[in-house]
Amino acid sequence: MNIQFDETNLLADMVGRAHGVTRAEVERAQPKAQKALAGFRKLSDAGRYGFPQLPFQSKVVKAIVRFAAEARGSFDTVCVVGIGGSALGAWALDCGLRGPHPVQGAFTTGHPRLVILDNVDPDFTAAALASMDPHKTLVVVIAKSGGTAETVATFLIVREWLQEALGATAGRIVAVTTEGKGDLYALAQAEGYAVFGIPENVGGRFSVLTPVGLVPAALIGIDIAKLCRGAAKMTDDCWQPDLERNIALRAALYHWLVWTRKDKPIQVAFPYSNHLWGTAFWFRQLWAESLGKATNRKGERVNTGQTPIAALGATDQHSQVQLYIEGPNDKVFTFWAVKRFRATGLVPGTPTNLPAFDSLAGQSLAKLIDAERRATAAALTEYGRPNCTVTLDRVDEEHLGAFLQMMEFQTAFLGEMLNIDAFNQEGVELGKKLTFGLMGRAGYEPYRAQFAAYEKKRAAAK
Ligand code: PA5
Repeated sequence: MNIQFDETNLLADMVGRAHGVTRAEVERAQPKAQKALAGFRKLSDAGRYGFPQLPFQSKVVKAIVRFAAEARGSFDTVCVVGIGGSALGAWALDCGLRGPHPVQGAFTTGHPRLVILDNVDPDFTAAALASMDPHKTLVVVIAKSGGTAETVATFLIVREWLQEALGATAGRIVAVTTEGKGDLYALAQAEGYAVFGIPENVGGRFSVLTPVGLVPAALIGIDIAKLCRGAAKMTDDCWQPDLERNIALRAALYHWLVWTRKDKPIQVAFPYSNHLWGTAFWFRQLWAESLGKATNRKGERVNTGQTPIAALGATDQHSQVQLYIEGPNDKVFTFWAVKRFRATGLVPGTPTNLPAFDSLAGQSLAKLIDAERRATAAALTEYGRPNCTVTLDRVDEEHLGAFLQMMEFQTAFLGEMLNIDAFNQEGVELGKKLTFGLMGRAGYEPYRAQFAAYEKKRAAAK
């Protein structure tokens, strides 16, 4: 397993002192990074945050592998009903290891596909249901809280769709939720679904290596033991004080400096790989929800956060790079490079006597996408735009498991450096409660009243 972090283009020597970090600044920040490592280690060892332990839970992995092996052959579609942290991990794994949509190829009972119902757009839900055969669909409903409005509403539709077609749902529904708590757990018990638990100390966006990501992954044929093996290796590195080995801590240190000292409130995740496109969306949630906070741990108002953007190379060179090069210098770019693609994409060498064609004939798409990334990094650097690169040797189970774990550690370390709680998400609560109020849920009447007051204010402002 080989993942590297290259910070050279974040240095003042490359992009100038106004936008890049000096070696002296890096030196001065070292104790802060080491403090973040020690502080996070303490919290993790005390059991407050559970994601670092996940790759070592071999019993959970074995139970999921056994379950998937027993179910195999009875479905050609795995339908995940979940949202946010309960959906994006599965999407990242599916896209990363089985190929980007829509080019995954034919799905069969031997090669099932993944359909994720993570939105309550009625047209999307209807179209998805119309595309699935209830006799060949295994539904995985995922909600840590057990009561998320979007998940519950969609699940009730899917459950009825199964019941109408099959007469019963026995053996067709798996629930992933907090064991012993919440309405989904209660329903699963009452209706006899298989249940996999989510540890209390792992929040949605850090849960890809719990059953939240592992159950769908195993069901579509991903080797989850290898995924955890890669994540375990990365975890060992992430506990090391040596920044050469601990690339998550090194990356956190540089990102903290560039963000807070060089005023870069935007982070562009720039994978040059369609397989990593799903992971970019997973990362967006991780970065936004973990680091966007109103207060620090002392209770002081900080309203901090770095807005994550997902851009796909080379495609978005033709839609975003103009802004990135000439627009405001308020971004830091992280290229995600892949050294070895599965295919080469050899460009036929037949001459045409046309320079645009002949200059590329006989070369390969692998070489071209690599050149495009390096050229874009060089162009950004020339314009004083700080950028760095994470390189994965290839996108397989071990590397993806390690990469996801690296990103989670990097986020946790950065949270420590900012002295914020990277693991809560108070900010999304009000919208959820107002929705419950609007949908008439008992106990949420004050939120309905709050919404009515807001509407009144709007009417007066018009
Ligand atoms: O990161 C998080 O905690 C959130 O994005 C949740 O995953 C999301 O709100 C879904 O919650 P639940 O799993 O309870 O349905």
